[in-house]
Amino acid sequence: MASVLIVDDDIGIRATLQEVLEAEGHEVTTLMTAEDALSSLKKDEPDLILLDFKLPGMDGLKFLEHIKDRNSNIPVVMITSHANVSSAVTAMKLGAWDYIEKPFNLDRITLTVQKALDNKHKDEQIAYLQKEKNKHLGFNEIIGKSYQIEDIFKFIRQVANSPRTTVLIQGETGTGKELVARAIHYNSVRASKPFIEINCSAFQEPLLEAELFGYEAGAFTGAIHRKKGLLELAHQGTFFLDEIGEMNIGLQSKLLKVIEDQSFRRVGGTKEIKVDTRIISATSRDLENKILENTFRQELYYRLNVASITLPPLRERKGDVLLLAEHFLRQYNAEFKKSIKGLSPDAEIMLSEHSWPGNIRELKNTIERAVLFEESNYLSLKSISLYESSVNRKIYNDKTEFDIPPGGVSLIEIEKSLIEKALDYTNGNQTRAAKLLKISRETLKYRIKKFRIEVPLKKS
Ligand SMILES: Nc1ncnc2c1ncn2[C@@H]1O[C@H](COP(=O)(O)OP(=O)(O)OP(=O)(O)O)[C@@H](O)[C@H]1O
Ligand SMILES: [Mg+2]
Repeated sequence: MASVLIVDDDIGIRATLQEVLEAEGHEVTTLMTAEDALSSLKKDEPDLILLDFKLPGMDGLKFLEHIKDRNSNIPVVMITSHANVSSAVTAMKLGAWDYIEKPFNLDRITLTVQKALDNKHKDEQIAYLQKEKNKHLGFNEIIGKSYQIEDIFKFIRQVANSPRTTVLIQGETGTGKELVARAIHYNSVRASKPFIEINCSAFQEPLLEAELFGYEAGAFTGAIHRKKGLLELAHQGTFFLDEIGEMNIGLQSKLLKVIEDQSFRRVGGTKEIKVDTRIISATSRDLENKILENTFRQELYYRLNVASITLPPLRERKGDVLLLAEHFLRQYNAEFKKSIKGLSPDAEIMLSEHSWPGNIRELKNTIERAVLFEESNYLSLKSISLYESSVNRKIYNDKTEFDIPPGGVSLIEIEKSLIEKALDYTNGNQTRAAKLLKISRETLKYRIKKFRIEVPLKKS
């Protein structure tokens, strides 16, 4: 349900529209003049306005201009006669969302209104998310005192000051690429404008293209209404292309053109849309290698890579490990309402010695789980080694890929525990347990004996 304001001097039209929209469950107000409408807006903003062109006094277009001047994002749908479609086009240029033609087609009215409301809702969501993200303002979030981190800070400050320079951030997974991208944005003159991100590996072609550039109604099956691309939303702000190495080569050419022309067209569109945005891209892949393999365009690489930085893996700046661990400990103490005072000495040693293939994200997750499960005043070796959570969790993913937790693991313990689990699942049926483990029944029998595993009694 939404609130709709109808501004029309024709009583018949007001009544028809009111009836249709109230039947859809909307709350409808009607007014006869633009002047009345303007003063009503001061008190309360509707979710949508249906607006006639010809009004006594101020006309519809003028009123529309007033609304847009106030920077309002209320969608306005114009009411127009068939003869007057060209002024509807003018209105759309001024920022009207759509128009409906007299004589009315009732289905078209409800559909247009619904689309406008859906779109407004989406815009509001985006604005909300944007605000949420603005809370994390860059530098304070980046923890570290190693000389590598100092270099990163210096880099951020330098490129933040040149708001058009494209930036390429390279580094292994979890090294803080996104964090650096945000810090650049929020320390630049673009800070009050949107930071829009897209993960190129999250969309399959041609969805990625539609997300980037948007599309016009009818551009392809399913494109019912025009949709703005993320690039448009990033106007005057920063556009963060994460996992750029995953973008296919065709789209790479289109992106290159956008950077060169600073404009683009929506899918199925003819209008050139100007866009002023700084492009920051990130990748955990070796792009130069991809160029050699002909899966990444060299020209694009040069364009994206005007300034570039490679974030070091955590194992190369071990001096920051404990600092980060304590930072995350404070963070999760607050989040889980705990008051763990610090790390136990053996936990410190373990954290410092681990090689952290998942880098800072892995460390963060490790501390999160440890804080959650710790029952004493200090994070113990036991809660950090996470034999249970880290190893078991991955085993039941179908991928055969295991992480070794910071404290190392006992292979024998894992083997034993898996055999016990398999026997448990199968109610002690050794044939099925062996199948689950993809070993022969003989092997299973042998191991049961070797590990002195108790086979659960078969339940029927
Ligand atoms: N120097 C740092 N100080 C504090 N937190 C950090 C730091 N670097 C990274 N983090 C945190 O580690 C996590 C991973 O960082 P981020 O998402 O920026 O990494 P990434 O390089 O983009 O990873 P991926 O390649 O997997 O997308 C985030 O939660 C981030 O807040
Ligand atoms: Mg990332």
